Amino acid sequence: MTKSANTMWGGRFAAGPDAIMEAINASIGFDRRLAPQDIAGSRAHAAMLAATGIISDNDAEAILEGLLTVLSEIETGDFPFSAALEDIHMNVEARLKELIGEPAGRLHTARSRNDQVAVDFRLWVRDQCDAADEALAALQKALLGQAEEGADWVMPGFTHLQTAQPVTWGHHMLAYVEMFGRDRSRFADARKRMNTSPLGAAALAGTSFPIDRDMTAQALGFDRPMSNSLDAVSDRDFALEYLAAASICAMHLSRLAEELVIWSSAQFRFVKMSDKWSTGSSIMPQKRNPDAAELIRAKIGRIFGANVALMTVMKGLPLTYSKDMQEDKEQVFDAADNLMLALAAMTGMVGDMTANKGNLKAAASSGFSTATDLADWLVRELGLPFREAHHITGALVALAEDKGCDLPDLTLEEMQAEHADIRKDVFDVLGVDNSVASRTSFGGTAPDQVRAQIAHWTKQLNARG
Ligand code: ARG
Repeated sequence: MTKSANTMWGGRFAAGPDAIMEAINASIGFDRRLAPQDIAGSRAHAAMLAATGIISDNDAEAILEGLLTVLSEIETGDFPFSAALEDIHMNVEARLKELIGEPAGRLHTARSRNDQVAVDFRLWVRDQCDAADEALAALQKALLGQAEEGADWVMPGFTHLQTAQPVTWGHHMLAYVEMFGRDRSRFADARKRMNTSPLGAAALAGTSFPIDRDMTAQALGFDRPMSNSLDAVSDRDFALEYLAAASICAMHLSRLAEELVIWSSAQFRFVKMSDKWSTGSSIMPQKRNPDAAELIRAKIGRIFGANVALMTVMKGLPLTYSKDMQEDKEQVFDAADNLMLALAAMTGMVGDMTANKGNLKAAASSGFSTATDLADWLVRELGLPFREAHHITGALVALAEDKGCDLPDLTLEEMQAEHADIRKDVFDVLGVDNSVASRTSFGGTAPDQVRAQIAHWTKQLNARG
């Protein structure tokens, strides 16, 4: 039996689509998530059509009411979604027609699915910028809690994952607070730029009806209507900017996840994950695996992938709309879902983990972490050029390595064999606490600096979340 043509656009079609055509064409399986935005957009449009006299007040009222009924049917799960009706836009309109009859057919006056989907998706992505901001604020607060607790706990700072210089736990936690702060500002920038309304661009060229684009823009919380109708229906920069911000944020999450994996290992034992955020092994009873951190690290690939996928979809498209653009949604949905999940999991893990002060300090005190302090002392106290100080310190490190001890364990005589003027107060700078306390430059690791940054961030996060 031949399927009948689509009731929305089937006027010139004698038969319905092939089943495979329907499968490749339909987006209702995923764009149903846009239902609340679609209905908000349609309500704004209908109210505007009445206000400008394009449709009657009675018809507008029936449409506005009917759309609320459709929304509640969707929310309660009673909505009969149909793949034959392709997408959310046509599903909603068809159901509206069943509910209110003839006036439903007037809703699409001066509009196209091209500006409709652009509005819906912008509203959805705009919400995701807000959701990411909120989730990032919560993560910053969890990190700040860790920083407050261990503002002056000494740990090794690494370069090349080799012990470099002692730093404080608070300082390390605050490094991530800074990163996630920049992520928030990236989402905020993207949100500001995307907050313009495509509604009224119609199919691509605008419309001959006397519509009021300012009215619909305002009703939907947009700053203004987009100025070029061709651009309005074909722009997906907003989704790409969201994905770019999400990718950078995801990269930060992945770096932190990687650190948590390393730090919770038996070789490091810097942190202990709470039971809530670890799993055991079915065969090795001693195991306590940081699965959540590993999955965050892994899920980040999907977010990067979505960014590349949508860039690739868009890069070859002539103006204006092409059906290719329907592929924007699944990528963004998947990226957003996984970003939100990763942020929530990271916030939970960071909030619940316990740093081991003693292990951090023991690790900081090994690996010749105060070698730079020794070299600096030689420069400051003996007036040596830094290069010469570096050389002497290197010789002392080699000696300690030979003896199987650390720098503070060398004797004064051993030091003086490298430079006769070395005095015993050199030992003051070889301890890790003194080392961190001395790094008082702005942004440095000294506990005083760290506490000042904690105060700054506490104020900031309390003021705007
Ligand atoms: N489902 C479509 C999409 O997501 C809606 C726009 C359809 N427009 C069209 N001219 N076929 O892109």
